[in-house]
Amino acid sequence: MAFNSVAFLISVIIFSVLSAGYGLSSNYYHKTCPDVEPIVTYAVKNAVAKDKTVPAALLRMHFHDCFIRGCDASVLLNSKGNNKAEKDGPPNVSLHAFYVIDNAKKAVEAICPGVVSCADILALAARDAVVLAGGPSWDVPKGRKDGRTSKASETVQLPAPTFNISQLQQSFSQRGLSLDDLVALSGGHTLGFAHCSSFRNRIHNFNATHDVDPSLHPSLAAALKNVCPANNKAKNAGTTMDPSSTTFDNTYYRLIIQRKSLFSSDKSLLDFPKTKALVYKFSSSKEAFSKAFVSSMIKMSSITGGQEVRKDCRVVN
Ligand code: HEM
Ligand SMILES: *[C@@H]1O[C@H](CO)[C@@H](O)[C@H](O)[C@H]1NC(C)=O
Ligand SMILES: *[C@@H]1O[C@H](CO)[C@@H](O)[C@H](O)[C@H]1NC(C)=O
Ligand SMILES: *[C@@H]1O[C@H](CO)[C@@H](O)[C@H](O)[C@H]1NC(C)=O
Repeated sequence: MAFNSVAFLISVIIFSVLSAGYGLSSNYYHKTCPDVEPIVTYAVKNAVAKDKTVPAALLRMHFHDCFIRGCDASVLLNSKGNNKAEKDGPPNVSLHAFYVIDNAKKAVEAICPGVVSCADILALAARDAVVLAGGPSWDVPKGRKDGRTSKASETVQLPAPTFNISQLQQSFSQRGLSLDDLVALSGGHTLGFAHCSSFRNRIHNFNATHDVDPSLHPSLAAALKNVCPANNKAKNAGTTMDPSSTTFDNTYYRLIIQRKSLFSSDKSLLDFPKTKALVYKFSSSKEAFSKAFVSSMIKMSSITGGQEVRKDCRVVN
């Protein structure tokens, strides 16, 4: 009897620890920094009021962080000496708004110095960004630590926009994420901007027989060729990923069905029956999408990896 209750208690404890996401918890700063969340929200709100592209930037920054070395704020570190950091690596063109995290960190350090990790601040900021863009809210598990390593060469580990469905599946499963997570998290592309380099493969020299990817809607293909001519040198040219690119909604999934999504990776979500069914489900229900997105965000943002609580998000202690 005593043994049974002890065994039961132990299994309850083990279950709670696992389900809290690798030791993370919602009330992690309850005693040490109770006001951290409104302070981060305030910094994000201020930035979004002046620049509607900030939510996209923060969401992508968090994704990028979590996919390399876990969510350990490695994406925030500056290059130093001859170490080129992630943020200066090749797929960095869309990383911006680092100042928002700096401002939030400064405000948090002013009330609870040395307590809240940059990785947690980024996870909170990404959630706030989604909310401020009109998307769902959720409780962010906290307790991540910041890493001490950031290498530009490791950004090749990010999934590429040219990936097909098997390559995407592999990239996500290496991080414990399923096909359900892949479809839900790809919905992040309801926000933001893409440069020509990210979809050039579909509109010029697609393959030996087709100049343009035949799975791309002809009217969009024509518009994209206009923005991104073959010999285009303008580094900043590109287009929003979704006509409502500052609003977090389920338009992204409708665009995929209309053959109007930008990346090969987006349209490849139609290539497995399971992922195709989810694209159709999310295209017809913002609620179903929001629910799935929240659960997959919590999963992705619970991939941990760091060791310390940085004082300055751009440099190791
Ligand atoms: C499934 C694999 C993914 C691929 C291949 C991919 C690829 C890309 C690419 C190529 C860009 C445009 C970069 C540029 O040209 O500037 C982009 C932008 C973006 N991605 Fe993804 N991404 C993926 C998953 C995600 C996930 C999981 C999220 C977040 C949940 C996300 C959020 C965003 C956002 C918000 C932008 C716009 C950034 C901005 O406007 O500043 N992506 N992605
Ligand atoms: C992106 O990387 C390139 C080359 O790797 C670098 O020259 C550039 O400064 C980086 N851009 C940003 C915004 O960090
Ligand atoms: C995806 O691409 C890889 C590598 O190019 C290839 O081996 C694989 O067969 C492709 N899978 C699908 C479903 O197209
Ligand atoms: C080019 O792509 C189209 C559409 O995917 C395909 O039907 C065609 O066979 C491809 N051509 C070559 C030479 O691979």
